[in-house]
Amino acid sequence: MSKRKKSAGEVKKRLPVAQEKPWGGRFDAALDKKAESFLASLPFDQRLAQEDIQGSMAHCRMLIKTGVLPPQDGELILRGLAEISSELAAGSFPFDLSFEDIHMNVERRLVEKIGPVGGKLHTGRSRNDQVALDMHLYVKKEIKQIDGLLTALQAVLLELAKKYLGIIIPGYTHLQRAQPVLFSHHLLAYFWMLQRDRERFLDAYARADLMPLGAGALSGSGFPLDQEEIARELHFAALYENSMDAVSDRDFVIEFLGCAAMLAMHLSRLSEELILWSSQEFSFIELDDAFTTGSSMMPQKKNPDIPELVRGKTGRIYGNLLALLTVFKGLPLAYNKDMQEDKEPLFDTSDTIKSILELFPGLLWSIKLNKEKLKQAVRDDFSTVTELADFLAGKGIPFREAHGIVGRLVRFALDAGKLPADLTRSELAAFHPLLDSDLTLELLKPQRAVESHQSRGGTAPQAVKEQLSRARRAMRRNDVRAKKLFHSGTL
Ligand code: ARG
Repeated sequence: MSKRKKSAGEVKKRLPVAQEKPWGGRFDAALDKKAESFLASLPFDQRLAQEDIQGSMAHCRMLIKTGVLPPQDGELILRGLAEISSELAAGSFPFDLSFEDIHMNVERRLVEKIGPVGGKLHTGRSRNDQVALDMHLYVKKEIKQIDGLLTALQAVLLELAKKYLGIIIPGYTHLQRAQPVLFSHHLLAYFWMLQRDRERFLDAYARADLMPLGAGALSGSGFPLDQEEIARELHFAALYENSMDAVSDRDFVIEFLGCAAMLAMHLSRLSEELILWSSQEFSFIELDDAFTTGSSMMPQKKNPDIPELVRGKTGRIYGNLLALLTVFKGLPLAYNKDMQEDKEPLFDTSDTIKSILELFPGLLWSIKLNKEKLKQAVRDDFSTVTELADFLAGKGIPFREAHGIVGRLVRFALDAGKLPADLTRSELAAFHPLLDSDLTLELLKPQRAVESHQSRGGTAPQAVKEQLSRARRAMRRNDVRAKKLFHSGTL
């Protein structure tokens, strides 16, 4: 180990600052090329460019205000950042992988443009709180966009529910015909799932609405920073209470992925129904040509590729959630390089969920219902016989007994090859004298069965109309909440 000691003069003779790594001072040798590209996040974190500039500008303004930076230096930096922002927007920014990530690329460019004074921007800041800030800004922006898309999808579901108010479809349990329901009722079930999804994203927004800058690398800063000023400028609702938490926290990213996973699960369930309903076996609906594809070999095919791919992409969205939970489970405080892995799952999930949400309204709106087939479907099965059991129970017969009586009636009909509509009053009467009434035949009609389910949230047309107006009100409540949250900055 005979390493010759260098003189101070030799150590000082190094590359000009702009070509060197920011940490170059402590190092003798250059980074291995493969290591450099392995470590780089630039290929994906360049998507944070605008958030990064926005954060840097707010930081710089605060440094001027608090007297940490001389105004003329600060102004120079701000102008440089504005130019860089335009370069980024125009696609002319010269990215350089040897500067690892977007943060160092912007800083390097700033120094290129305005000289060494650009190096003052990083005063009182670390990439650790810088990247945390960028991620907060990004997640908040994405939630706002998703909120708008979710609302549009909910609005389409409400419109469709209104449009199809009279249509009855078979309702299923175990994928076996169970009881008839209004198609609108079925659609509205998805409305309420999306309602909860939207609420979840809004909850997540509130927790993402914390400003981490000032945390420095982990322990805060010795400079007289005004963190509240930055939060105000960037419209954050509050500051972190603990600098170590501020730079280590990615709960808000994981929570976003969790919200997206739940939303994707709902959309995947709806997709599954569209796939089933549009199959020849069901033939309840036809998907529009604009949202289906054919087969390269079988000329008759019309494939529900979009709902299938939504179902498939849901797997990826779950995977991203699990990936990030796993990345974080063993991380000691504070920043660890592992955390750089937070970006691709976030970007991928957000892009995927937005692309799905953008497609769904058009897809749903263009669906054609096969009304004849639906009428036949609810006529040709036994899904109304629970009404008879309820009728007998209403007359004082214990429900268990009533169930048995009607069960035997169904057995008889099946053996005789009859459907409920074929049964006569006297055939019914043979199973119980109370069934000897015109009303009982009436009860077997799907329309009647649906109309009788008037409980709150039930499928009776009146109940569904009330549900619709509750849905509209619930949506407005979320609109108000979203507006408040998105324009917060209520420090
Ligand atoms: N590219 C890094 C990331 O995304 C930025 C923070 C790096 N900080 C550090 N101390 N190496 O996580």
